[in-house]
Amino acid sequence: MEPDVPSGAAAVGETAPKRLFIKTYGCQMNVYDSERMADVLRPLGYSLADAAEGADLVVLNTCHIRERAAEKVYSEIGRMRELRDERLEAGGPRMTIAVAGCVAQAEGAEIMNRAPAVDLVVGPQAYHQLPELIARVSRAKGERLAADFAPENKFDALPTARHVGGPAAFLTVQEGCDKFCTFCVVPYTRGAEYSRPASAILAEAESLAAQGVREVTLLGQNVNAYAGQGSDGRHSDGTWSLARLIRRLAEIQGLDRIRYTTSHPRDMGEDLVLAHAEVEALAPYLHLPVQSGSDRVLKAMNRGHTADHYVRLVERVRAARPDIALSGDFIVGFPGETDADFEATLSLIEQVRYASAFSFKYSSRPGTPAAAMPRQVDEAVKSERLARLQAVLAAQTSAFNAVTVGRRLPVLFEKLGRQDGQLIGRSPYLQAVWAEAPASMIGEIVQVDITAQGPNSLTGSLADSLANALAGASADTPVRPRTEASA
Ligand code: 5AD
Ligand code: SF4
Repeated sequence: MEPDVPSGAAAVGETAPKRLFIKTYGCQMNVYDSERMADVLRPLGYSLADAAEGADLVVLNTCHIRERAAEKVYSEIGRMRELRDERLEAGGPRMTIAVAGCVAQAEGAEIMNRAPAVDLVVGPQAYHQLPELIARVSRAKGERLAADFAPENKFDALPTARHVGGPAAFLTVQEGCDKFCTFCVVPYTRGAEYSRPASAILAEAESLAAQGVREVTLLGQNVNAYAGQGSDGRHSDGTWSLARLIRRLAEIQGLDRIRYTTSHPRDMGEDLVLAHAEVEALAPYLHLPVQSGSDRVLKAMNRGHTADHYVRLVERVRAARPDIALSGDFIVGFPGETDADFEATLSLIEQVRYASAFSFKYSSRPGTPAAAMPRQVDEAVKSERLARLQAVLAAQTSAFNAVTVGRRLPVLFEKLGRQDGQLIGRSPYLQAVWAEAPASMIGEIVQVDITAQGPNSLTGSLADSLANALAGASADTPVRPRTEASA
């Protein structure tokens, strides 16, 4: 869609204070996009609200990956419509309802037909156009708009300044996917692979670090396929791999932890494996989805690798970084999956030993090749397999966490805990850790003695003051997980 007014507050002439509520569904890339939408709208006078009640603009940033995620949108639109009506009846101003994200991209026209309450629909590649879209909606009352892939690059149009919410931030470096796994909508909703130029990523990371961000998670649907235009600061410098980008990011003062997600086993280059051995700031955590342990199913999924290839890759990563926490994604009940195929997945899990994992029942997505495959698996069978798989994975998570009890780990405190005097942070292995600590420690990496494990988190207490004084004294030499941790 061609914008008819330039973006920015001056162009639309609206800077009166307004409340913006963004509800985010799905993956971390949507979390990043929601933050960036707030950045785009801030110059128009929008400040973030915690709830939809009283908001002038509600954005539902949606996920299309599984059917249940996509269906949630319609019930949420209904709830927003009720809030809008109540507000109008009470004589208040009209609330604008926008649907963004991957459902907007995939089903824009359907949303417009099915949900008349929606004022505008904006896909993930076009949200930088929100200022002019909102201006149009408010000018032409009742005109409802859809935005598709925009002609210009979204990232170039986003403001450089970011408003960060804490010491750990997401940073999108790559978008889209060319892999076309047969079950997945991402290549259709997010489009072809695109890597941001290194200079733009470095500038964003520098600005995050200057605002006190200590940990950055590099995001991409297929992040280890990153191939961005490199830069030595002033001149272009060929194409950089993710490993090269990470090495350069690790030089940024204050940026003490780097993570990346999500990776594909076929794009795990030797330089990235080596980075896990050599780059101290690279956290010992790797999310490497395999989806299935059966070669037959992997082939039908168009994953492009075998179970053995994956297991050998994990061995190489572990050789580089023995204490690495491995995480994965699994789908049970892919069309044609037999009991034997499922057993092969369980056996791969036994071999790999995961620290954490995400597992799903296969969900048929319109337009994907797998949706048309014969031998769709019965829901009851899917449920039974998922329960078995999750029990095995939960036991592995518990075993991984148990090894860290009794150890001293550097924890980046991110925010206040639920109980008074408590903070919550993350270990290098991405475990949530609770400890009694002063609020002044938010944003610091602090030595914590891990004392107990719960189902989803660890409890700890601040290590003796000498250890933390030493860590504080060498603030230029950030506390490195490597020295303290080898699970
Ligand atoms: N059904 C179930 N799970 C899916 N995923 C992606 N598409 C589907 C689908 N159609 C899962 C994969 C992927 C994760 C983000 O979501 O495991 O890695
Ligand atoms: Fe979807 Fe990931 Fe496969 Fe790409 S690599 S198609 S994002 S599951």
